[in-house]
Parts: sequence; C-alpha cells; structure tokens
Amino acid sequence: MQVVGRRQLVAGNWKMNGDKALVGKMQKIFATAGLDNMDVVICPPSPYFGLFDGKLKLGSQNISEFDSGAHTGEVSVAMLNEFKCQYSIVGHSERRADNHESNELVALKVEQVLKAGLTPILCVGEPESVREIGKLFEFIAAQLNAVLMKVGVSQFADVVLAYEPIWAIGTGKTASPAQAQEVHAFIRGHLAKQDVNIAANIIILYGGSVKGNNAQELFSQVDVDGGLIGGASLDPQEFLSICQAANQ
Ligand code: 13P
Repeated sequence: MQVVGRRQLVAGNWKMNGDKALVGKMQKIFATAGLDNMDVVICPPSPYFGLFDGKLKLGSQNISEFDSGAHTGEVSVAMLNEFKCQYSIVGHSERRADNHESNELVALKVEQVLKAGLTPILCVGEPESVREIGKLFEFIAAQLNAVLMKVGVSQFADVVLAYEPIWAIGTGKTASPAQAQEVHAFIRGHLAKQDVNIAANIIILYGGSVKGNNAQELFSQVDVDGGLIGGASLDPQEFLSICQAANQ
C-alpha cells in the first residue's frame, strides 16, 4: 500500500548466487517494465557491479566499517560509490550468524554507509526460539537501539529498514501479513518514541520467502513498504511480478 510520503521499494538480495547471464536477463526484463510508482534495487555479489548499465539501482550485500587498508576480502563505501551503488544491506541475519556481526558492529557499518552518502538497508529480525519465548519485541528493539545510539534518530531519515524473521528466510515459511504488520508497526512505534516524523516516513521492507503469489497481500499492509527478496530475486519473471505488486 502506497502511504503518502512513502514510496514502495523492492530489493533483490542475490546472496552468493547468480552469474553474468542473470545480470543480462534482469536488465532486459526491467528495461521495459514501466514500474513508475516504486523503486527496484538489485544487490548482486560485488564482482558483478560493473556489468550493470546504470539503469537499475544497485546495492551491496555487505560493507566494511573501515575506509580502506589491510582488511583482506572487504569492500569499502568508496568502492561502492565508484560503481554508483546507492544502497548497502547491513546486518543481514546470515552475516550476523556466519560472520559473528554484533549489533555494535552493525551500527558501525550503518554509520560508515551514511557517512558516504549511501542508504543502508538495515536488517533486523528474530530467530524462532526468541519468538516462542515471547521476547520478539525486546530482541528487535535491541537491534534497533544499538544503531540509534550510534548514529542518532535523525540519521534514520536516510535509512531503509528490513524486517526479516530468521525462521522465514529461505524456508518457504512466510510470516503472515498480520505477523509482518504487527512487527512493522512495532518498529515504527519504537522510532516514533524518538521522532514522529522520521517514524512516519521511514521505509520498512519485509523479507522472508516473499514470492509473486504472496507479495501483494504482504505489501498491502499499512506499515509494509515493499520487500527484501532472496530466492525469488534470482528468477527475473518472478522478481518482476513481486515488483509489480509493489507498483500498484
Ligand atoms: P528468501 O526470500 O529466500 O526467503 O530470503 C530473504 C532474504 O534473506 C533476503 O535478504
């Protein structure tokens, strides 16, 4: 649902998938897609950035908290800027788990992305065990608070949030539209305690097994402003149909 002041956004997180051919297919299909009411962002593995022709918006899947130097395997915000990358996913649950990224490190990365004038797509979301013991909101609040403490609420004017319940990622088990809405409303309410305007205008994406056949219902929730898409972003036709759901 397009709420005044908030434009829907759909970002495709390819994770460690895709190839040169997929870059070509994606560009071809989106060249004539006519999606005027929403924004599309592709977050491919970084070696593919240079293959995009500049028509689709690009995002990275991760970013270094450092400017440059002896940090083998890392990519800097300056490098993203050179490739016209406008977004960077920060704090994805897979990086929090696989690379032991703490809330504090995630906050440093958000600060780094903002400093370079890019938009962080800050991911939050709970494991199933936390939801089961009723600590869902505390868990999400702690993830948000670490970043709020580091950069301050006013900087959230340039942040996109993504709620990705870990139990729904790559499992085919989507949060119901009501479950997504409940957490999105909590997140907006949490920010509103510090700044009502920032809270009203911030884009909050839902991620976790979004497909062409469930996108419309999820995106029609009042606090859901689009999606962060994993598996389905690797199929250009399926990804297009998700974007079309956000374009309505
Ligand atoms: P899936 O859409 O494959 O569940 O992945 C969601 C995700 O992790 C996007 O960042």
